[in-house]
Amino acid sequence: MAHLTDLIATDIGRFLYRRGTEALRFIVCGKVGNGKATLIDALLRGSKMLSEVQRAAIGGDAAVILIDARHGVSTQTRRHSFLLALIGVRRVVLAVNKMDLVGHSQSSFETIVAEYSAFAVRIGVSEVKAIPVSALHGDNIVERSRHMPWFHGPTLVAHIETLELTDARAHLSPLRLPVQSVNRLEPGIHGCAGSITSGSVRPGDRIRLLPAGREATVSRIVGSDSNGERRQAVAGETVSLVFKEKTEIAPGDLICDPHAPAEVADQFNATIVWMHEAPLLPGRRYLLKIGATTVPAQVTQIRHQINVDTLEHLAARHLDRNAIGECNLSLDRAVPFDAFRDHRDTGDIILIDRTSNDTVAAGMINFALRRAHNIHRQHVDVDKAARARLKHQRPCVLWFTGLSGSGKSTVSNLVEKRLHALGHHTYLLDGDNVRHGLNKDLGFTDADRVENIRRVVEVARLMVDAGLIVMAAFISPFRAERRMARAVLAEGEFIEVFMDTPLSLAEQRDPKGLYRKARRGELKNFTGIDSPYEVPEAADAHIDTATMSAEQAADSIVQLLFERGIVAAPGA
Ligand code: ADX
Repeated sequence: MAHLTDLIATDIGRFLYRRGTEALRFIVCGKVGNGKATLIDALLRGSKMLSEVQRAAIGGDAAVILIDARHGVSTQTRRHSFLLALIGVRRVVLAVNKMDLVGHSQSSFETIVAEYSAFAVRIGVSEVKAIPVSALHGDNIVERSRHMPWFHGPTLVAHIETLELTDARAHLSPLRLPVQSVNRLEPGIHGCAGSITSGSVRPGDRIRLLPAGREATVSRIVGSDSNGERRQAVAGETVSLVFKEKTEIAPGDLICDPHAPAEVADQFNATIVWMHEAPLLPGRRYLLKIGATTVPAQVTQIRHQINVDTLEHLAARHLDRNAIGECNLSLDRAVPFDAFRDHRDTGDIILIDRTSNDTVAAGMINFALRRAHNIHRQHVDVDKAARARLKHQRPCVLWFTGLSGSGKSTVSNLVEKRLHALGHHTYLLDGDNVRHGLNKDLGFTDADRVENIRRVVEVARLMVDAGLIVMAAFISPFRAERRMARAVLAEGEFIEVFMDTPLSLAEQRDPKGLYRKARRGELKNFTGIDSPYEVPEAADAHIDTATMSAEQAADSIVQLLFERGIVAAPGA
């Protein structure tokens, strides 16, 4: 699982500084070519108390930021520093490296330090210690440099050794234990296992299980390493708990201190760092992973993007790779969480692409949106089934997708006429029409098309709930949104009709003259020309418009509705 610190992935190194039983976790950030490996090597050789680690827990206690003296403070330096500040690292050692290549110049060093310090103050990094070094020659790493008599500060190792160790008091904060697995011990007696991310637990403790909110009493604690029972378990340990009473519990639940429980919500504000080639598009559905839980989610709004060079807040309709933004998210169900600033492990999220399974973003929860707590579902007595019965039909959405000029509007119109003639209750949602009203504010960028379809799917869903047979005729060029439409409707309610038309044929028809405009460069982002169309992989109906007339197409679709029992065939 990728975490925020992994974002600096290719540019990161980690090491531990141990004194007695306590340790300080260091993150080393620097561009490839800044001499990071050389520096870590020199450090490890220079002090017995330093050791390299592959993957520390989330975050770090301090960071070494490596700058190439020849290039100075770069966008990447600022980006790393900003991310470090976000994850709560407040102590930075600025190692200005390759001093030998700038003639050990004091003024070069001081210019860099001045620029960096000004930036550090603005992002809340309170403690910056700058040291001019040459990792390759060992200057100011362990031994003082003979070439820089003007520098009176400590060497890098000496400075690290004077840093105060962070109090390892994680076990004093409230209990958090994300449940990884559940075991049925005896009939009625359930236990569970997971790693304690914060706090401690003892036999006899009352705990609360979120999201349900039930409470239970711990009767036994068994460590992962021994069979013996434990009198206490603390943050960092993986344990099994057994409860006194019969307790309903599931993987993904969060065990909490009942006096300081986590929150439960299905909407929150988070800072997102986007890592994927394809941009973040609000309204598109991703999987959100938090603790041991994975849940479908979407970004409902990008509040702003942050320019890491100037720290300005910018308006944004999407987030490109490496962009950092503050977003509102909406989840399919409520999950337990903490604000990242209070509990790193239970406030840390990642987003996953549903098709490729790639991790596309990492983020930190800032706070729950108040509306998440105050809006409830209202029960209604007349439901979809009752409405559909009265109309003698099974409500559904016939989703027509295809290039502009593929015949979506023509064929859906014919289908509606036939259903209407058979006495059915229908409605036709057509791209051009909806874009004159509800979606007047949307254009044809990828982000706007995603939002266009998201709204149309919500409207179609309401109409299905009203008992109607809905025809939707939209280019809907992306698989992700068509898949989302299928997912939010009940089984069998989404019928995808692919109006398959070669681009050359659509262009030849060109009923609105738009292809000609697009070819002349007067219309940007035109589907098929300079905006993609993703062909359906498993449409319910495949209409080859090159060989079928519109009437034949409409007949075959109505026939499919008979076969699927959406409407009864006349005389049947
Ligand atoms: S979608 O991609 O967001 O699903 P939608 O079906 O609503 O598109 O709208 C498509 C209609 O808008 C087309 O039939 C065409 O008449 C018109 N249109 C105007 N500009 C564009 C464009 N750049 N790309 C595609 N269609 C466009």
